[in-house]
Amino acid sequence: MIKVSAPGKIHLLGEHAVVYGKPALLAAVDLRVTVILSPVIVSDQRERGNLKKIIEPIIKKYLKIKTIPPYRLEISSQIPVGSGLGSSAAISAAYIAALLSYVGYKWDLNLVNELTFEAEKVFHGNPSGGDNITVVYGGLIYYTKGEPFQSPPSIPPKLAKNFILINTGKPKETTKEMVEMVSVKFRKIFDNQEQLVKELLLAIRDGNENQLIQIIRAGEKNLESMGVVSKSVQSIIRKIEDSGGAAKICGAGGKTGPTGVLLCYHPKPSIIQNIAISQHLDYFRTALGVEGLRQE
Ligand code: PMV
Repeated sequence: MIKVSAPGKIHLLGEHAVVYGKPALLAAVDLRVTVILSPVIVSDQRERGNLKKIIEPIIKKYLKIKTIPPYRLEISSQIPVGSGLGSSAAISAAYIAALLSYVGYKWDLNLVNELTFEAEKVFHGNPSGGDNITVVYGGLIYYTKGEPFQSPPSIPPKLAKNFILINTGKPKETTKEMVEMVSVKFRKIFDNQEQLVKELLLAIRDGNENQLIQIIRAGEKNLESMGVVSKSVQSIIRKIEDSGGAAKICGAGGKTGPTGVLLCYHPKPSIIQNIAISQHLDYFRTALGVEGLRQE
């Protein structure tokens, strides 16, 4: 039996702009997907058929093999699907590593990352590569497409304790559709987002709460100008800002209804909890910058 787990991710800032060559800052979150592969006599073809159809060809192509011995695939996940927490990257990464182990191949993180990026292309069309890097390597990731990623120091505890995630629900639009909606015409906004990502890195390093709040607010405004935050979610974010906090979508967002998970920050996080309760939305805390993919 082979067991591999991978964390989800959030975008602290830089989503969408990262597709256009700007840096993004991401963190692995302590919600994990666990994949278990065990040998069987005959595979159940109905079991996770679509996922197998995407992942197995990637493995076969890389290893130049025609068949994989039958196996049973079990997936358990704490990551809400399609909500900006990188569930597709996490599932793909854990499954790819497990399958490589299953056929007796000694993998390393670089290989799993490379093959997970191939899977992300099938899921999302034109991914930046940020999601797969974050779920595979873990920690905090500063990433610009086409460049080696960097691992900045972790978020100081006095800031880390004040982040809360609110789940606004699964967006009606897919990541692929949202990425296609955003275009190079937002170049000026992407430039500003790049500046904000760099400032965010410094605010985190210095533990500067006021700066952090201002940057998240400005970054969210830019995302709204790109059209990736629905009106209903904008009104929740305004409530959080009016209460002294900041919030932003994390990931592709949504145009019409829910936008997935909101990354929220408040010097008094209980205020965010009360806003979530008043909106009948789930909220949760999770550690940011946790360990990446690992064999269990
Ligand atoms: O929706 P998610 O969690 O897969 O995040 C997408 C992030 C984008 O920047 C919009 C796309 C990308 O590939 O980086």
